[in-house]
Amino acid sequence: MAGQQGTEPFQVVHGSVQDPYRSRVERVYEDRPEVWKKAIGDSLLFHLGIYPDGASSLEEAGICFLEHTLELADVEAPVRVLDVGCGWGSVLQYLAERFADCPRLDGINISAEQLAYAAAGIRRSGLDGRVRLFLCNAQDVRFLPGPETPYDLVMARGSVAHFPPAVLRGMAEGLAQRVRRGGKLIVADVFYNDVASYVSSIEDTVDRCACGYRKSPDQVTGLLEECGFLVDDVRVLPDAKDTVRWFRQVQANMDAHWAAGERPRALDEYYITFSNMIAAVERGAVSAYSIIARRG
Ligand SMILES: C[S@@+](CC[C@H](N)C(=O)[O-])C[C@H]1O[C@@H](n2cnc3c(N)ncnc32)[C@H](O)[C@@H]1O
Repeated sequence: MAGQQGTEPFQVVHGSVQDPYRSRVERVYEDRPEVWKKAIGDSLLFHLGIYPDGASSLEEAGICFLEHTLELADVEAPVRVLDVGCGWGSVLQYLAERFADCPRLDGINISAEQLAYAAAGIRRSGLDGRVRLFLCNAQDVRFLPGPETPYDLVMARGSVAHFPPAVLRGMAEGLAQRVRRGGKLIVADVFYNDVASYVSSIEDTVDRCACGYRKSPDQVTGLLEECGFLVDDVRVLPDAKDTVRWFRQVQANMDAHWAAGERPRALDEYYITFSNMIAAVERGAVSAYSIIARRG
């Protein structure tokens, strides 16, 4: 199910089922990375941060959070790593350097724009011998090439919030086939503590940022368990203070670059969503979570 796409520096993995939400997510990430850097910083890490004493940059906070989840997962010498929803490749680059002996790291994404940028960075860093990129929907992980080498570590940071239920199920079932026994899965995302009772504090009839399918941490862990994963750790991470600080810092960056009516469309949607999320985090309706699971 995998094929080379013309001269693109990534392989295309075709699934068997359509994902009607896919184009909605693709549109969110179609702006140039230079535009995104103005909002989320040059590292292009795009999932929250933990601010250690004295740290103030988005990059420091992002790396601190990523490192914290890796320590929680307690992963040693992985042979094969997968990043689900790999953004512009920043997490893959970090993992390739952190696990310098890991021979194979795969990144998947449905945004061709992001993958093209990721591929260029990986080539420049001399990591292209170990890092492979795939234009592949998370629901199709079972079709990734090389099933004879199972994954030891899978990360899904900030991507699960975008998934419709069928994509989340497809990913969990696919990973159950492709992760080795004892292999670790790290899910880090923003979830709704009680989806049924959640009420938005602003008028919220538009599906901004393609995050329209709200999920609770229990729904995610329940599905993982149904698919044969053992959930070792679930915690609020980053805490509410750091989560709000990260949202506000990205908003401040946007304020510094664009007047309110002039923000690019996707960034404007994030700006409004972050205001909504800050209110929801502060009243305990929404939290950032880290989930560490292991294939049983
Ligand atoms: C918030 S960004 C997080 C990027 C990166 N994981 C990080 O930590 O910086 C979410 C990413 O998930 C990707 N994504 C969303 N839905 C996806 C899907 N169904 N399959 C694969 N990737 C998806 C988006 O294109 C985007 O790159």
